[in-house]
Amino acid sequence: MQGVLDYLKQNQNRFLAEFCEYLRFPSVSAQPQHKTDLQACADWLVNHCRQIGLEANIYLTKGHPIVVAKTPRAKNSRQPHYMVYGHYDVQPPEPLDLWKSPPFEPKIIGRNIFARGSTDNKGQNFAHLKAVEAYLKTNTPLPCDLTFVIEGEEEVGSECLSGFLKKNRKELDCAAVVISDTGMPSPKHPALGYSLRGIIALEITLHGPDCDLHSGGFGGAVDNPAMALSQLLGQLRDKNGRITIPGFYNGVLPLSAYERKEYARLPGSDATLQKLIGVKKLFGERGFTSSEQRSARPTFEINGLTSGYQGEGSKTIIPSWARAKITCRLVPNQDPEQIRKAVLAHLKKICPPTVRMDIEIGHGAEAYFVPPTGAPAQAALRALEKAFGHKPILTREGGSIPIVNQFKKILGADSLLLGLGLPDDNAHSPNEKFSLDCFEKGQLMSAYLWQELGRV
Ligand code: BES
Ligand code: ZN
Repeated sequence: MQGVLDYLKQNQNRFLAEFCEYLRFPSVSAQPQHKTDLQACADWLVNHCRQIGLEANIYLTKGHPIVVAKTPRAKNSRQPHYMVYGHYDVQPPEPLDLWKSPPFEPKIIGRNIFARGSTDNKGQNFAHLKAVEAYLKTNTPLPCDLTFVIEGEEEVGSECLSGFLKKNRKELDCAAVVISDTGMPSPKHPALGYSLRGIIALEITLHGPDCDLHSGGFGGAVDNPAMALSQLLGQLRDKNGRITIPGFYNGVLPLSAYERKEYARLPGSDATLQKLIGVKKLFGERGFTSSEQRSARPTFEINGLTSGYQGEGSKTIIPSWARAKITCRLVPNQDPEQIRKAVLAHLKKICPPTVRMDIEIGHGAEAYFVPPTGAPAQAALRALEKAFGHKPILTREGGSIPIVNQFKKILGADSLLLGLGLPDDNAHSPNEKFSLDCFEKGQLMSAYLWQELGRV
């Protein structure tokens, strides 16, 4: 093990140079024009995995490719087998003018590296690859057999990955899935996540007149789709922050006294949160703390709102249409299909007769919840404590990793959520960054993890 630790210490500069190469691919899964960039990124990753001593392959899908890389193993190995899951696709970098350095030209400033995908998820996942490289290159026996599955569609719902899991069920059979794609409150509070929120996505378009109209000639007698959409969406939340859609809270379980107590132990205050994100005042569902609102309650969010003229100066029109991109976060025990039906039925009911409503249905995923009491979770807690030098906390995560429930359903495997992201990493925002301390400690954590998991 000392050899592994020394190797990690001695090779950080090279790791950073490689990490920068990885970050230079604009692997934006949501944007069709980047399809070949995803392919190139997957090719780079497969080559990199081979260079560090893994047996790696690319699996083509009807979407973006999946990279699979295995540690060399004895034919009848009886070591425990773990999967390490991650994603090489990234969120769109827009709005570009808010980036202080270009999103796909990584820039190191102090102990942070800035680039789209740095924390979510290239850097977090790369920390595991580097830890495994250290074992392989120092000929230190790895106490576990590992299979990396690194996909290119996480940020758009992981549509193709479940088919791949079903096809390769036997080969992927594992004791648990290790995932670093979440966060921790601070490097003094390493965290093991035991829950993720689920999600449903939809796009609402309200169609008005056949084309944009002169607002002087027609305004007053024709409904304005932008106004109609604003009024429609405005009805969906009351002044207490509750979503008014009948059935929206179906299935939601109350937080236990134990969980609320754990939540209360989280560091940070509302004032720090408010300052971090730069809002005038926080807003959320009454009766819950901001940490609870952010991870244990369902939400209805407008992700994008488009209508009419967006260029410089003014233009006097009644737009022909208005569109909203929506996602709802769901919590454990909610059924995405049932909630989607409730949302659609309500939207249809309140849509005014002056416009035509079109709804396009997007991705969906159930929430995840597994109490962190099993032996692998306990091993993960020990690895976190060794690497970060602080007692880890248990967290519910507010984000979603759509495939995690499929790991459970198809492979019967729980996931260990070992997040390396920090609250100020700007995931999905301009100026995304990853802390180099988290990168290094993440490598250590991974190195210790295989020792700990090899013993359970
Ligand atoms: N890394 C995130 C998930 C995450 C972030 C979990 C923070 C917990 C805390 C992941 O890459 C992500 O962004 N997932 C999407 C999934 C969606 C597009 C289906 C999400 O949560 O929005
Ligand atoms: Zn993400």
